[in-house]
Amino acid sequence: MFIMKFKIFLSFLILFQVAAAVFARTPVSVLRKQAEIKRRNSLTSRDVDPSTLYPAYNISVPVDHFQNESKYAPHSSDNFNLRYWFDASYYKEGGPVIVLESGETDASERLPFLQKGIVSQLMQATGGVGVILEHRYYGTSFPTADLSTENLRFLTTEQAMADVAYFAQNVKFAGVNKTLTAPGTPYIVYGGSYAGAFVAFLRTQYPHLFWGAISSSGVTKAIYDYWQYFEPIRQLAPPDCVRATQQLTNVVDNILMKPNNSAKIAELKGVFGLGNLTDNRDFANSLTGGIYGWQSRSWDPAINSPGFFYYCQNVTATTRLYPDTASLGSTVNDLLAAGGYGNNEALQIEMLNYIGYINLTVVSGCEGETLDQCLSTLNTAFYQQDDYSQQGWRSWDYQVCTQWGYIQTGSGVPKGELPLISRTLDLEYLTVFCRDAFNITSPPDVQAINKYGGFDIHYSRLAIIGGQADPWRPATPLADEARPRKSTTSEPVLEIPDAVHHWDENGLFPNETTATLPPNSIVYAQQFEKDFVLEWMNEWQNHYKR
Ligand SMILES: *[C@@H]1O[C@H](CO)[C@@H](O)[C@H](O)[C@H]1NC(C)=O
Ligand SMILES: *[C@@H]1O[C@H](CO)[C@@H](O)[C@H](O)[C@H]1NC(C)=O
Ligand SMILES: *[C@@H]1O[C@H](CO)[C@@H](O)[C@H](O)[C@H]1NC(C)=O
Ligand SMILES: *[C@@H]1O[C@H](CO)[C@@H](O)[C@H](O)[C@H]1NC(C)=O
Ligand SMILES: *[C@@H]1O[C@H](CO)[C@@H](O)[C@H](O)[C@H]1NC(C)=O
Ligand SMILES: *[C@@H]1O[C@H](CO)[C@@H](O)[C@H](O)[C@H]1NC(C)=O
Ligand SMILES: *[C@@H]1O[C@H](CO)[C@@H](O)[C@H](O)[C@H]1NC(C)=O
Ligand SMILES: *[C@@H]1O[C@H](CO)[C@@H](O)[C@H](O)[C@H]1NC(C)=O
Ligand SMILES: *[C@@H]1O[C@H](CO)[C@@H](O)[C@H](O)[C@H]1NC(C)=O
Repeated sequence: MFIMKFKIFLSFLILFQVAAAVFARTPVSVLRKQAEIKRRNSLTSRDVDPSTLYPAYNISVPVDHFQNESKYAPHSSDNFNLRYWFDASYYKEGGPVIVLESGETDASERLPFLQKGIVSQLMQATGGVGVILEHRYYGTSFPTADLSTENLRFLTTEQAMADVAYFAQNVKFAGVNKTLTAPGTPYIVYGGSYAGAFVAFLRTQYPHLFWGAISSSGVTKAIYDYWQYFEPIRQLAPPDCVRATQQLTNVVDNILMKPNNSAKIAELKGVFGLGNLTDNRDFANSLTGGIYGWQSRSWDPAINSPGFFYYCQNVTATTRLYPDTASLGSTVNDLLAAGGYGNNEALQIEMLNYIGYINLTVVSGCEGETLDQCLSTLNTAFYQQDDYSQQGWRSWDYQVCTQWGYIQTGSGVPKGELPLISRTLDLEYLTVFCRDAFNITSPPDVQAINKYGGFDIHYSRLAIIGGQADPWRPATPLADEARPRKSTTSEPVLEIPDAVHHWDENGLFPNETTATLPPNSIVYAQQFEKDFVLEWMNEWQNHYKR
């Protein structure tokens, strides 16, 4: 799941923004997403590029599966090309089709999982055909000519699920003589994150077509104000880093949120080198990059990002790391006193290092632009672009604004708990793109998603896999709030200790494994998945014989 952040709204500034609209500069939020995709793609480029191994195919599917539902009017009777890749080289008579639903991204990013990740492992274990299937409105799978708000009306989870149902009933795998369609062939669907929720819903909504489903980090509960994103970080990240982040954020909030405090606010922004950033929430937002690094960790060194630990080592260091901050000591002391932490020498050093860190990672990247151009996401001109090339943000943001939510606020954190990002980062501020890009002013219809079961979703042959330290766990059936679950062969459950986001999806070639890679917890999880899928296949054989 993409990290949602750096989304900004401030109505009285929109006028300025229109004046400055000549710069359709990419908002920081979108740049961050692109960096995240690039990080994940480093897996693709590591060894044999999987796109050279697997040709892409299309299947022609209806644009509008619900001709009877008025919300899709005006209806379309067209078809469009839904893209997929497959590997039938391990196929044995009677084997399943294992479909990885790629979710909210260009599905070519998921090809490594066919080459050596979970799909490869499951197809080898079962003699199955492995498939990577793209989601409508991502990659090359577009039902409409552009991504205008009107044309996005066919982008709902139910339409996308109907695509997969259509695929399973109609696909013909090139060069494979046998008909491998559902329900005559067992289909097992796998997905991680949004796609994890999606495959869980496929199992419950189309049980006759999908024999089994593995929902990894599946966010089955849509939540509008998703302040809980930071809870696993607060609970499981290094405590000194959490404490420093909470205290420094608290200093910022005590100053920003005090009425009539403009002089101190200017001093605070100035000491971070961000004095020219007009909006205080843009300022608060610019400080959050370090803590967000938690999700970009991986057990696989090829795609792991060490950024989170760099951040922590900066804000917890006990000596000054940046000589150029030497002159700022007394200003920082003054700000700490104003922020409720007077006479705190340790925190003074931490704040100086935080300033140096922000200077290095944020401010220095803005050379040649004003800070508002560089760091404000008030960018109406940007959000009005709606050609295919905008899919990297526009398709998922539309799903966020219409159905899914997951706005990661600081404001939602319960009183009495110190948040890890500023409380000035609230729903209004963080949903500017809903208004600017889609003219959507009401909250998402989370009930359109939560009607499928939310935390409590369950079904035979629906597996729930998750990561203990995943910031998305609070939106999955493994949330602290959800009922406890007992694992059975029919309804397997596994929470991978210390893991973050769908860590079971990625894999290594045999020649890449070492004594410590993959870690035991991942080897265990993948073996667990192979074992229960084999049991499900036994059930299929017995069912079929009867
Ligand atoms: C699949 O469809 C897309 C979009 O229509 C098209 O660009 C692409 O060339 C097609 N690929 C194949 C292999 O037919
Ligand atoms: C449309 O048809 C589907 C099944 O084909 C049905 O589940 C749904 O309730 C129908 N909706 C309306 C508004 O009649
Ligand atoms: C597919 O079937 C055709 C004719 O029925 C046969 O000639 C061909 O060898 C088969 N191909 C494979 C891969 O089994
Ligand atoms: C803040 O200043 C405004 C005038 O600038 C005044 O009306 C208001 O009462 C002040 N608020 C507080 C809490 O001092
Ligand atoms: C802030 O803006 C002023 C006026 O536009 C400019 O002179 C100054 O260089 C800017 N400072 C920084 C740190 O960007
Ligand atoms: C501080 O953060 C920077 C930027 O991420 C990083 O390069 C540096 O190594 C960090 N310092 C320490 C002591 O980890
Ligand atoms: C911020 O970084 C610039 C280099 O990009 C450096 O010249 C300046 O001294 C730094 N300021 C502080 C306070 O660290
Ligand atoms: C935005 O939506 C409202 C109704 O929700 C409509 O009145 C208004 O014309 C729309 N604005 C644009 C720019 O489409
Ligand atoms: C490891 O195995 C893969 C798949 O068989 C192969 O493509 C790759 O070249 C091998 N790497 C090395 C370093 O031998």
